[in-house]
Amino acid sequence: MVIVLGIETTCDDTAVAVVADGKTILSNVISSQTNLHQKFGGVFPELAARQHNETLLPILENAIQEADISVDQIDLIAVAKGPGLIGSLMIGMNAAKSLSLAWNKPFVGVNHVEAHLYGAIMSHPSPVFPAIGVVISGGHTFIVRIEAIGKYQLIGATVDDAIGEAFDKVAAMLDLPYPGGPAIEAIAREGDPSRYPFKAGVVKGKPWDFSFSGLKTNVLYTIKGQNCDKLCKIAIPPEQIPHIAASFQEVALMAIVERAISAASKFKCAAIYFGGGVSVNERLREIMSKKKGKDVQVFWPKKGLSLDNAAMIAGLGFHCFQGTGDSLDLEPSPRISFCLHS
Ligand code: KG4
Ligand code: ZN
Repeated sequence: MVIVLGIETTCDDTAVAVVADGKTILSNVISSQTNLHQKFGGVFPELAARQHNETLLPILENAIQEADISVDQIDLIAVAKGPGLIGSLMIGMNAAKSLSLAWNKPFVGVNHVEAHLYGAIMSHPSPVFPAIGVVISGGHTFIVRIEAIGKYQLIGATVDDAIGEAFDKVAAMLDLPYPGGPAIEAIAREGDPSRYPFKAGVVKGKPWDFSFSGLKTNVLYTIKGQNCDKLCKIAIPPEQIPHIAASFQEVALMAIVERAISAASKFKCAAIYFGGGVSVNERLREIMSKKKGKDVQVFWPKKGLSLDNAAMIAGLGFHCFQGTGDSLDLEPSPRISFCLHS
């Protein structure tokens, strides 16, 4: 059995987990900073880094205790090396390097976005490849063909906002709290998704690319009036807000569902894996199960593996480790990709 300690500090969640053999979660501890950032309506990078610094060691102790292991039993340390906020990334990376030196154990840097996809893969006992992978988070939206763990071909990506970012921005327009995704989903339950004829963008000649910025502006003008900016006051009656939220959510989610299903058919894949924060959305899961057709299997991350977490980092770290691990020169990167371009 290979036991991996995972560390995640790419954005505003401090997380440490212990995972055996890339799939058995022994502990998955997350400390969210949502309350800290809520009053700024988004993540305040400097504050995020300081909070990681304060929280990481207590969380580490919790994760080891909860896993009921001793430090001696840890074989490898895996850390999210990017993409993310540089100040936040540095805290996790320096902690991983220090532990690696102090405990005399190898460490490996893991791509956070690839790990989101792995969150869905590790949630199911026998992976089905080739498969379509769809990452829908606050910072990323793209579709890949997964040949095997570590081998991906990029099929399409957003040309502007990530879908989670669009949820967050529309929520801010409606004076809903940050993060916007859960707030929009909750209020959309009271609304009629066909009330407003919003449209998601299409990218000419690139059927699997996404564009959410036109949709976002369309929603902004509907809420605040033509040519208004985000500082203007809401100009619609409050009873319209659930209908706006539901109509926006439906259109944004349909853009994901349609591309995922057509990519599965075009690229001859019988399975679709979803990863990233937006994959917890119940309405998305509902639409997907209605539209997917009987020949395609859909895999979602288990509870605790959609939003930022360290179990996905430890899990993927198990597969990335090639015997020696990374050198202490490894630096975190705010921007890195993991795909081969099509
Ligand atoms: O994957 P994640 O935790 O962090 C990134 O790597 O970005 O995703 C966070 C994003 C936020 O934009 C948040 O609004 C969105 O996931 N999100 C949701 C829901 N819960 C979180 N979006 C839609 N519906 C939800 N229930
Ligand atoms: Zn993430």
